[in-house]
Amino acid sequence: MSKIEPVRMVIVGCGMIAEHGYQPRCQAYPHLIDLVGYCDQDSSRSEALAKKGGGKVYESLEEVLNDERVEAIINLTIHKAHAPVSLAALKAGKHVHSEKPIALRTADANELVDTASSMGLKFTCAPSAMLGAVQQNVWKRIHDGEIGEVISAVGSFGGRLEYWHPNADAFLGENVGPFRDVAPYPLTAMTTMIGPVKRAHGFARVAVPQRMLHQGPRAGTKFTVTEKDHGFAVLEFENGAHGFIYHSFTINSHIPAYEIHGTNGGFSIQAHDDGRGIRKFTPQNGWQDEDSPPGAFTGLDWGKGIADLADAIRRDRPVYRSGDQARHVLEICERILESSDKGEPVDVVSRFSTPIPMATPSPWSCHGSKTG
Ligand SMILES: NC(=O)c1ccc[n+]([C@@H]2O[C@H](COP(=O)([O-])OP(=O)(O)OC[C@H]3O[C@@H](n4cnc5c(N)ncnc54)[C@H](O)[C@@H]3O)[C@@H](O)[C@H]2O)c1
Repeated sequence: MSKIEPVRMVIVGCGMIAEHGYQPRCQAYPHLIDLVGYCDQDSSRSEALAKKGGGKVYESLEEVLNDERVEAIINLTIHKAHAPVSLAALKAGKHVHSEKPIALRTADANELVDTASSMGLKFTCAPSAMLGAVQQNVWKRIHDGEIGEVISAVGSFGGRLEYWHPNADAFLGENVGPFRDVAPYPLTAMTTMIGPVKRAHGFARVAVPQRMLHQGPRAGTKFTVTEKDHGFAVLEFENGAHGFIYHSFTINSHIPAYEIHGTNGGFSIQAHDDGRGIRKFTPQNGWQDEDSPPGAFTGLDWGKGIADLADAIRRDRPVYRSGDQARHVLEICERILESSDKGEPVDVVSRFSTPIPMATPSPWSCHGSKTG
């Protein structure tokens, strides 16, 4: 296979996930990703990452976007900055990968998807967990009919994040909360494996309004929760299947992170991490453990989503983690909260081009990567 030139990218937003997730995992794909610089509104953070990984410290987003060498940005800013930063980058002709949620409002997500499309740019959005070896293995087996007709799925993710995240207040601010922040994990898995959701029934509330940061330089700071921090939803999929999700920044439930059920069996896996094994249900033997497939990364390989973007740019192929699916996921979250306020189910109107399981080997392993 012919060698391709790595795509020159800048990380915008150099906080926790940039430092511990994206920078090290992007460095695992040097044949596809060239991290040429870093930008943060707090320059001590961009300087720290540049010191660790090499590359330029950009003083502003404008400076990044005016640099013709930069082909793509990796948007790891905080939730409310996702849409404005991605939109400015797309308008400047840069390809974009955004952390989830794609935006805080579906209307803004629509503008992003339309801008990327009209500019002919690639636009990917986290979570990239579906690119994991476990997730692809299970999806392919469902696709091939191993558990019969899919009838339902269950998902959960959450916990008390003010005890471990130094900026937990931003995750509990208006229009964020667990539904926009963590529901994208099981919802991305469900919509990938089942298809679009047509109606959402939501039940959500503010459970613990007064909190305090327990970690980081602002530890001891009290804050008021301004978004629903606890709730459930029942989803009706277009194909007749049903979903149930539970998300809370108040407690962490033992409801499975991700289970999918068919007429002839089911699977239970992590919606977030790769390499944590597979549980399979059969009518004959109940739940049995299986090892993760060979080559699985243990944890969430943040670099895979960026490798997908880079490979898609160079080969001019569609991306696997598309902005239009992320927009659908965001709309589901928005409709869940709307349904909870109205006390009645709400239709979900956006749709996305349904992806298919990835070919083996994955695009990023074709060029000599030892990971993933
Ligand atoms: N921490 C996690 O475990 C985790 C996991 C998955 C996804 N994420 C997502 O990643 C994003 C970032 O999370 P984090 O934990 O790294 O947060 P963080 O608060 O540690 O870092 C965010 C960084 O973005 C910078 N920033 C904010 N607005 C900016 C702007 N307009 N321009 C430039 N820089 C800007 C901040 O100064 C900060 O350094 C969030 O949207 C979150 O949902 C976080």
